[in-house]
Parts: sequence; C-alpha cells; structure tokens
Amino acid sequence: MRQDGDVEAEGETFRLVVLASGTGSNLQAILDRLHGRDGIEVVGVGSDRPGAKALDRAREAGVATGIFPRDDFANREDRDLAMADWIESLDADLVVLAGFMALLTPPFIARFRNRIINVHPSLLPLFPGLDAIGQALEAGAPETGVTVHFVDEGTDTGPVIAQQAIPIRSGVERAELEAEIHAIEHQLFPEAIGMVARGEVRIAEDYPGRVIIERGG
Ligand code: GRF
Repeated sequence: MRQDGDVEAEGETFRLVVLASGTGSNLQAILDRLHGRDGIEVVGVGSDRPGAKALDRAREAGVATGIFPRDDFANREDRDLAMADWIESLDADLVVLAGFMALLTPPFIARFRNRIINVHPSLLPLFPGLDAIGQALEAGAPETGVTVHFVDEGTDTGPVIAQQAIPIRSGVERAELEAEIHAIEHQLFPEAIGMVARGEVRIAEDYPGRVIIERGG
C-alpha cells in the first residue's frame, strides 16, 4: 500500500479490485467518482454471481471482470485461492468489498491483511451481519448510518475508517431509509477509498483496532 502523499504526483497508480455480488450501485459510485482520477484505477471487478449487475457496470466501464461461483470450486478455500491469485495478477493495492455477499476465508484475509475494506449499512459495532437496516428498524433504534472499515476475520469487526449517522424518523418506510443509506454510502465509500489511496489512513501500531487519519496539507 502507498504510504505518503498524492498518488498521481508520485507517478504511480493506486489499483483497486472491487468485489460485488449484486446491483453494484457502490461500484458505480466508485467508477464515477474515483476511476481514472488522481491516479486511482479500478483494475478489476470480481463476483461470485455470474448474473450480478455489477459485472455489467464493469464491462460498461471497460474494466476486467472475474467470476468465481462457489459451485465451480471444491470448497470456499479453493474459491478464495483462485480469487486471490486473480487479484494479485492485477497487482491490486486495495480490495474493495462493495456488497460482496460471500464470506471470505481466513487465508484470503491474511494474504491481503489491512488491504481489504468494506462498506456496511449501520453504525458498527451496532447491527453487524446480514440485513443491518432491518435490524435497526426492528430494534427501534433512533439512528443508524454507514460504516467503512478494514476487513478482519470477524463479521464486520475490523478497524473503522469512516462513519456517518442518520436519524431514523418515526414511521419511515424501509425503502425510504434504504435509499437514504445508499446515498450516504455513495459519498462516504469513495471518500474513504480516496483517503486510503492517498496514504492518509493507517492502523495504529500499538492499538490494532484503531485507525489513524492523517490528512494531507
Ligand atoms: C450496500 O448496502 C452495502 O452497504 C452492503 O451491500 C449493499 C450493496 O449494494 N454491504 P450495491 O450492490 O452496492 O448497490
């Protein structure tokens, strides 16, 4: 991972591989806001689902795709090994999970230690795992939000890079809340990725659960 300064000024490219299982609206935000700008390139989009709309978005943008359906491999470890080899063949600096619904195995996470980030639709550590928006509504929480975090072996437990809260208005429809959360994701996730690309984000050495942000001058 790059350590210091402006990516473009150093004449290097910061290379993203995005993994997505579904619609890929976050992938689209990354393509629209980051791809081909300030030295950042999306060099590959991988999916476990051959029909994922995210793959169409990648093809539309002229980005290489890789498809890794679980059924094509003997087990999850083998799938992840193939996917990790593909990601390395693209010389990726950062693996971006944008609605990637398959659980990653520990060897995959170890191979890209502190180089995998995820967006999650809650204020972690609240409501980790599946259907975070439904969990927040069910709990009657007064607010929820979006978290961007590094991925470790736990479920949505890695060090937090950025968070943004929104209130849950009384009687709000689920679809409305979802739309509000997605709108935040589409801003916050590219912003956080840009910070990582510029070397502004590091994990505290003596407190590995914490992230330190050092914005450029
Ligand atoms: C997002 O809500 C994200 O927080 C979660 O999966 C969803 C992906 O949506 N991890 P999209 O495929 O990017 O539209």
